[in-house]
Amino acid sequence: MVGSPDTRRSELVEVFREARSCVKCPLSESRTQVVFGAGNANADLMFVGEAPGAEEDRQGLPFVGRSGALLTSMLGNAGISREDVFIANTLKCRPPENRNPTPVEIETCKPWLFEQIRLIEPRVVATLGNFATKLLTCDQTGITKVHGKPQVRRLGSRTVFLLPLFHPAAALRATGTSELLAADINALPELLRQEVPQEPAEDGAP
Ligand code: URA
Repeated sequence: MVGSPDTRRSELVEVFREARSCVKCPLSESRTQVVFGAGNANADLMFVGEAPGAEEDRQGLPFVGRSGALLTSMLGNAGISREDVFIANTLKCRPPENRNPTPVEIETCKPWLFEQIRLIEPRVVATLGNFATKLLTCDQTGITKVHGKPQVRRLGSRTVFLLPLFHPAAALRATGTSELLAADINALPELLRQEVPQEPAEDGAP
């Protein structure tokens, strides 16, 4: 616990102000703006995607393109409102041509994500796709093997249920993946009702 929801929200806004002018890696030269994340600063459920795409870079908000529309619709079908969750990305800046994040970019950007987790205090962190999943599980096992199976993980000072999910962009490309993602998202309300066990499997702190 680092304070009341109001205190944590104010601190998150401070972190956002700092992140907005981040120049820790060369993506700061090609981005339009930092896409810090958006949603409920006191959310029980937090999503972590890969990196902003063209539309996110333009609007400064995460998951506002086609992947975002699919995610919002699947959440709605599961009875979860997008306003109730917080959505962030592994990288806060768009990689040129939507190329994959590099290991150095991921490491450089990681402290922003861990600050978000520390201040939002989610109980469930759902990772979307391989990059967020491998970063936060500290395990190189691919998403196809681990999706939909909740893990108890320590992320910084916080113990959470980490739920790996397919990335919505992959679901847009393949109907089978879309069905698996929808089924995994439908299991989120039940996971949110469960107590998080306080014996973490591994420390994913930076
Ligand atoms: N894909 C992501 O991983 N994040 C976004 O914000 C948009 C698309």
